[in-house]
Order: sequence, then C-alpha cells, then structure tokens
Amino acid sequence: MGFKVAVVGATGNVGREMLTTLAEREFPADDVVALASSRSIGKEVSFGEDDVLKVQGLDTFDFRGVDIVLSSPGAKVSAVFAPRATKAGAVVIDNTSCFRMEPDVPLVVPEVNPQAIAQCTKRGIIANPNCSTIQMVVALKPLHDLARIRRVVVATYQSVSGAGRASMDELFNQTRAIYVNDPIKPEHFTKQIAFNVIPHCDVFMDDGSTKEEWKMAVETRKILDPDIAVTATCVRVPVFIGHGEAINLEFEQPLGEEDARVALRRAPGVTVVDHRADEGYVTPAEAAGEDQVYVSRIRRDPTVAHGLALWVVADNLRKGAAVNAVQIAEILVRDHFGSRRTRTNVQPLRRTTL
Ligand SMILES: NC(=O)c1ccc[n+]([C@@H]2O[C@H](COP(=O)([O-])OP(=O)(O)OC[C@H]3O[C@@H](n4cnc5c(N)ncnc54)[C@H](OP(=O)(O)O)[C@@H]3O)[C@@H](O)[C@H]2O)c1
Repeated sequence: MGFKVAVVGATGNVGREMLTTLAEREFPADDVVALASSRSIGKEVSFGEDDVLKVQGLDTFDFRGVDIVLSSPGAKVSAVFAPRATKAGAVVIDNTSCFRMEPDVPLVVPEVNPQAIAQCTKRGIIANPNCSTIQMVVALKPLHDLARIRRVVVATYQSVSGAGRASMDELFNQTRAIYVNDPIKPEHFTKQIAFNVIPHCDVFMDDGSTKEEWKMAVETRKILDPDIAVTATCVRVPVFIGHGEAINLEFEQPLGEEDARVALRRAPGVTVVDHRADEGYVTPAEAAGEDQVYVSRIRRDPTVAHGLALWVVADNLRKGAAVNAVQIAEILVRDHFGSRRTRTNVQPLRRTTL
C-alpha cells in the first residue's frame, strides 16, 4: 500500500515540477491529488509521461486520509490551509516563506540537515528553504565540515522562473516587444527585465537589504550553522530557468583549492565542473532540468587569510524547490512513517540522487 499525496499549487511552476518529480522518482504514492485556486478547478495537469490529473479547489478540499502535502501556493495561502491539513493528519512540506523561520518548524535540505526532519512531529510542517539558499548550502556544507566557514559574500543571478509563471511570461513578452518595437510595460517586475538585470528580489527591508537577501542569511544560519555571517546581493537576470551564484568564503582554518575540490566531488548532490578553459564551467541554461548543484570556478580568494571563491549553479525549480521537497518526503516515509501503513516499495535514498 502506498501513500496519498496532495500537491497544492499544482498549476504553478513549482507545483508542476513537483508532480513531474514524484513520477520520475517513483514516489510510493497510491493516490496523487492536484489542488489549486478556484480559478483552476477542472483544468488538467500532467503527472508523469502518461497520466493527467484534474485540478480540484484547495478551499473546499477535505485533507482527511492525505499523508503528505507538497505545497507551493504562496505564503499567505499556506498560512491558512496548512493548519487545516495538519489537523486532518497530513504532514505539510511547504515551499513558501510562511513557516521557514518558525523555531518549531524544521527547515531542511536533505544533503545538509536531514536529521531536522524528526522535528516535524511538533507542528506537522517541514519548510523547504528558498531556492537560492538551497543550492548555496549544498555547496557550502562539505567545505564548512573541513575548515569552518566564518563569512559568506554572495551575489546571485536569479532566473525569472523563481518569481512564478507570470514572470516567465513577462520576460518572453518583453523580449518579443523589443524585437518588434512595441512599448515595454513592466508588470510583475519593477523595471524592464528583458536585456536588463534588476538588483531587487522580493520587498525592501528597513536596513536597505531585500527580503530575498535577508532570507539567504537567516536560512543559511538555521540550516548550517548559527555562527556563519552571510551578506547577499540578489539580482534578477533575463534567464528563464537556473540560478547562478558568485560566492566568496572566508574560513577559520586554511583550506586549499584542491582539498576543496576533492571534498565537493565527494559531496552528495554536488557535481564539480571546473576546468580553466573555455566551457570548463556550468551555466544556468545547462543546469536547467538537472537535479545536481554544479560547482565551478573554484579558486583562492587572496583578499582574506583563508579564502575561496566559487561559482554555483542549479535548476531553481528542481533542486531549488520540487526535488528538495520530494527528497524530504522520501526520508519522511522511509524513516518516520513506520506506523502509518505497511509499505513494500520505499527504498533507501541513493547517494547519487541525494
Ligand atoms: N519558483 C521558484 O523557484 C520557487 C522556489 C522555491 C519556492 N518557491 C515558492 O513557491 C511558491 C509558488 O511559486 P511558483 O513559482 O510555483 O508560483 P506560480 O507559478 O505563480 O504558481 C502559484 C500556484 O499557487 C496557486 N495559488 C495561488 N493562489 C491560490 C489560492 N488562493 N488557493 C490555492 N492555490 C493558489 C496557483 O493556482 P492558480 O493557477 O489556480 O492560480 C498556482 O498553482 C511561492 O511562495 C514561491 O516563493 C518558488
């Protein structure tokens, strides 16, 4: 017997990718339900190669009998529906920013802090971090284990898919408009995104940083180590899928380039592509559709005592959202759902796909 899984936000960028990931990884589900707003009731979404699911409305859905909810309908919607789902007995794995910093909600990246999943018994909610944080901490973890990271300086190059479906349409429409000499009208972005970059992701905070920049700092500390200092500049770029990050690290102890490269090569979820030659690094377009976090351009940063610089790229919809959430669900059913039902097909996570 398998599990019953509900995907909330199933018509969105992340939700559609969650359905694809569940099917690709053969998650042990008997029943998968697609939920979205009342606007989408009756629409069809793909599940795997052959199946199609009819979308149901979240507002009136009864969560009794659902084991796991994979959720990405936006923070305000999660705040309202998640307590209803957990009350009915489901565990909610939430992709929005709603619960991430609540002390009794684990914030989990399986390659970094899988042990935190056990804390989900407190609220029945597990938070999936922000896409930019996920790919960064996957790359940082093996280096932190070796030489203790003291400070991180990161600049992101974030694709428009990170801001939802409508933002991808905006890049497409603006690009087309420029070619045919039509006027440009920013709607979801604050300025023209086609053939431009915008140093503004999410809202401004009182100290002049943006909320995306704040999230990278506080989430990294919650997942990896409360003593790490992080300063981020988050920039939206005219790329459809895949985030890039230029990262400078300052360590407590010395760490050579080659030792870092070896540790990263051994780390779960990481692929190192680092040749000092044309094409010897990975770009967002190449990472789109992939589940790994790619690390390139590993080099000494001579401006601090123990410094390294890296270039880190991942698919923000897959490892940055859907794949991370499904990995959490896999650990949940493997290690924490023993008493719910008897399952025959839950396999241990493979190191290569973690
Ligand atoms: N994109 C990323 O890289 C990424 C990564 C990590 C986390 N996230 C987070 O995940 C969330 C969704 O992102 P996205 O990129 O998938 O956005 P999106 O493409 O705009 O999709 C939003 C989804 O939420 C649903 N929704 C909106 N209002 C709803 C309501 N009142 N009730 C039920 N469903 C509702 C939409 O359904 P309708 O089609 O019916 O409107 C749609 O399925 C955001 O909180 C985002 O911050 C995104």
